[in-house]
Amino acid sequence: MGEMNLRRLRRTPLLRSLVRETTLSPDDLVMPYFVRHGKGVRAPIRSMPGQFQLSVDELVKDIRTLRVPAVILFGIPKRKDARGSEGYARDGIVQQAVRALKSETDKLVITDVCMCEYTDHGHCGIVRGETVDNAATLPFLARIAESHVEAGADMVGPSAMMDRQVAAIRAALPDTPILAYAAKFASAFYGPFRDAAESPPKFGDRSTYQMDPGNADEAMREIDLDLREGADIIMVKPALAYLDVVRRAKERFGCPTAAYNVSGEYAMVRAAGERGWIDGKKAVLEILTSIRRAGSDFILTYSAREVAEWIS
Ligand code: PBG
Repeated sequence: MGEMNLRRLRRTPLLRSLVRETTLSPDDLVMPYFVRHGKGVRAPIRSMPGQFQLSVDELVKDIRTLRVPAVILFGIPKRKDARGSEGYARDGIVQQAVRALKSETDKLVITDVCMCEYTDHGHCGIVRGETVDNAATLPFLARIAESHVEAGADMVGPSAMMDRQVAAIRAALPDTPILAYAAKFASAFYGPFRDAAESPPKFGDRSTYQMDPGNADEAMREIDLDLREGADIIMVKPALAYLDVVRRAKERFGCPTAAYNVSGEYAMVRAAGERGWIDGKKAVLEILTSIRRAGSDFILTYSAREVAEWIS
């Protein structure tokens, strides 16, 4: 019997790449963008070095040289109000951006469907007293999604974590692919995003609608419900602290599965990389590989632009 020797295939880079089980491709990445009103705006986001709030003209310019095929858009409105009315306005910032991108680039355009960036209280739905009213929020989410699709969006991503939000959107949009933020946890790792999108809640937190970090069985129930309501792709968010949930979801449902490598995950690696405490580039590639290895088909990540440049 030959000697057990697993090092034989590690000897050279060519051998290692020949037998590599999990690889990264630009086709598996989605780049998130924050779009705001104005012209010529490219405003750095303090807690996410390398990321910017962009006006529509700058967004188009940036995406023209982007080497990943898909983007997801988040909007920063001119004005916030109790019902987040810019969220579903025909000339809202995301709607304008979608129109420009669909006419001037060939990218797949996904939109985030939520209310927190647009409401003055910063919660993801309609607030009554101190609580977020699930039933009252659903028609708004459907309306936001419809306005995105009317502008030309290829796919919508409801992220508000209201019960039955996928059903409400599916009823309004029978033919639109839905990327469901199915298992979205109430996470500290969204901190930098709230800076970027100017969307922190003014009171309380999101733990009455986003999931408790300890719950993986419940994540399976959330995903199951979203699929029954008509989701096409399910997503786990954040990614890194929830790789077990990604793995279980993929094994159990066998459906297209995404993971969101969120703002705080990006910021941590970036911060340590800038201090020279870790090799930032290697860490990003290792993390994205691990998220794919856990079972996700594709990854939403702020590193998408640079990773596509490194690997293509
Ligand atoms: C909107 C939304 C959030 C994120 C994506 N969509 C913020 C939140 O739920 O507070 C977070 C993304 C990130 O941290 O990168 N509800």
